[in-house]
Parts: sequence; C-alpha cells; structure tokens
Amino acid sequence: MPRILIVHHTPSPAMHALLDSATAGARESGVEDLDVLVRPALAATASDVLDSDGYVLGTPANLGYMSGALKHFFDTIYYPCLDATVGKPLSVYIHGNSDTDGARLGIEKIVTGLRWKLVAEVLQIVGDPGKDDLGACWELGAVTAATLDA
Ligand SMILES: Cc1cc2nc3c(=O)[nH]c(=O)nc-3n(C[C@H](O)[C@H](O)[C@H](O)COP(=O)(O)O)c2cc1C
Repeated sequence: MPRILIVHHTPSPAMHALLDSATAGARESGVEDLDVLVRPALAATASDVLDSDGYVLGTPANLGYMSGALKHFFDTIYYPCLDATVGKPLSVYIHGNSDTDGARLGIEKIVTGLRWKLVAEVLQIVGDPGKDDLGACWELGAVTAATLDA
C-alpha cells in the first residue's frame, strides 16, 4: 500500500487552510489504496519518513527561513534517513506575509542533501491564501500522490 507523508507546521488559520487543501488533494488523487499520513513537524519521526513513499512539506516563512519546527524535523530525520530515502518524491508549500525565498532556499539545500526529488516547483504563497492558492495546494498534494501510483 503506497503511503504519502504530509509534514507541516500549522500555527494559523491560513496555514490550516493550506494543509487542508494539500491533504484533500492527496486523498482525492485517485491513487488506489493510498495511505495519507499527516504529522505536525514537531511530532514526525524518522520511522514516519522511512515508512513512507513520498512527502509533502508545509511551513510558514519565519525570520527569513523555514519554521524552527520544520528545521527540527530535518535535524531529527536527516542522518537516520540519509541512505534509505534517496530518490523519494516530494513537494513543498510555503506561506509568508512578505518574502518566502529564504525558506525555499533552505529547504532546497536540505532536500538536495537528502537526494529527495522535487516533483513540482516549490509553492510560495504570500498574503491571505485565495481560491487559486488553495487550488494550487490541492494540486500539489494530488500530483505528489500520483507519483506513487505504481
Ligand atoms: C516570528 C515570525 C517571523 C516571520 N518571518 C517571516 C518572513 O521572514 N517572511 C515572511 O514572508 N513572513 C514571515 N512571517 C509571517 C508568517 O510567515 C505568517 O504569519 C504565517 O505564514 C502564517 O500566516 P498568517 O499570519 O497570515 O496566518 C513571520 C511571522 C512570525 C511570527
């Protein structure tokens, strides 16, 4: 049974709306028997990562970088997962109120080290998420799930 892991830091209603959309996209992707595992970044474990076939990561931009919670996730799973997760697909959504580029660059560097494979451009949303932003987040979940449809 394929499994997609959604790791998120969700400190506000705007972030919650994006998480809901990404999760719905994965669940409604039509991939047969897909297991969708949703974990807050402060609770996700290396086992969650090792037991999953692909990932969606969601974070706010904080102080020019990803949230401390998502960084904590990477710090926790990096070495335990380094050799065992090469080539796994992932996608990323980032929300901020002014500039999310630092967060994107930080995440891209780390996933390059892990040798995970971005299956869509990193989705960067600035300001109140509108209908199109929520749709793009849904799409992100669906596209990432579709890569697991072996
Ligand atoms: C401590 C702190 C630092 C932040 N730093 C950034 C930042 O560097 N870039 C940015 O675009 N938004 C920044 N923000 C805004 C958050 O990304 C934003 O609050 C979050 O995405 C949730 O959106 P909302 O507040 O509109 O619900 C920051 C917020 C906080 C609390």
